[in-house]
Amino acid sequence: MDWGMRNRLSKLIQRDGRALFIPIDHGYFQGPTRKLEKPGETIKPLLPYADAIMLTRGILRNCIDPTVDKPIILRVSGGTSMARRDELDQEGQITSVREAIRLNACAVSMSIFVGAPGEHQTLLNFARLVDECEDYGIPTMAVTAVGAELEKRDARYLALASRIAAELGARVVKTYYCEEGFEKVVDGCPVPIVIAGGPKVDSELEVFNWVYDAIQKGAIGVNLGRNIWQHDYPVAMAKAIRAIIHENATPKEAQQVFEETKRATTSG
Ligand code: R5P
Repeated sequence: MDWGMRNRLSKLIQRDGRALFIPIDHGYFQGPTRKLEKPGETIKPLLPYADAIMLTRGILRNCIDPTVDKPIILRVSGGTSMARRDELDQEGQITSVREAIRLNACAVSMSIFVGAPGEHQTLLNFARLVDECEDYGIPTMAVTAVGAELEKRDARYLALASRIAAELGARVVKTYYCEEGFEKVVDGCPVPIVIAGGPKVDSELEVFNWVYDAIQKGAIGVNLGRNIWQHDYPVAMAKAIRAIIHENATPKEAQQVFEETKRATTSG
């Protein structure tokens, strides 16, 4: 692997082999998502706990201080919206690799929609992106997207989509966690896997359980958005998840980190 690629990957994946990415890219098809109306304000208190942040060029340019000391994962696919839910899988490339370099991105991310009408188009888009990014030593993160079909998130589907992403040349794969058979997803994918959270769930312990179990089964970390920043105590969530990822905390220990941070926030 070339020096540039290795250097960028080492900024994303930490020395312990783990990673906590916080995405704030949701507006690229959802518009002003709850608690992400002002993405710069949402992410600011979370930056100390993130190993990298994922976002689009528009939010990067307009909402993030260019002196920020965090690697940027630039989302370069899109072109669809919630106003046409049936066509969410019809994404194209919305940002060039040249622009990613200009913005000093550490990696780029693109969605692939395996099993949807847009499968062929999005897989070819991703393969082309890999070709170009490899020329410049820029890691690609494939996002195994399900659009509005959240029920697709079972081991068989996730293993299929993750393996295809790796076969096409992804350096990192972002997929979902599933309770049954997640180890099959990891075992069948020869590149590092991070998990997304999906829509916010009611209990923080549920999130800690997913993250812990995913790590035990071989994921290197998370690319977790709404279950951090839509929570009433986002910093406490970020710290607790960081403890699982980088300090091998159990879900119970993570809950303690959460409660302590929440108490400090409330009493401060
Ligand atoms: C989808 O909107 C984006 O690709 C997100 O970055 C990804 O789904 C992870 O965010 P969340 O944990 O909120 O699902």
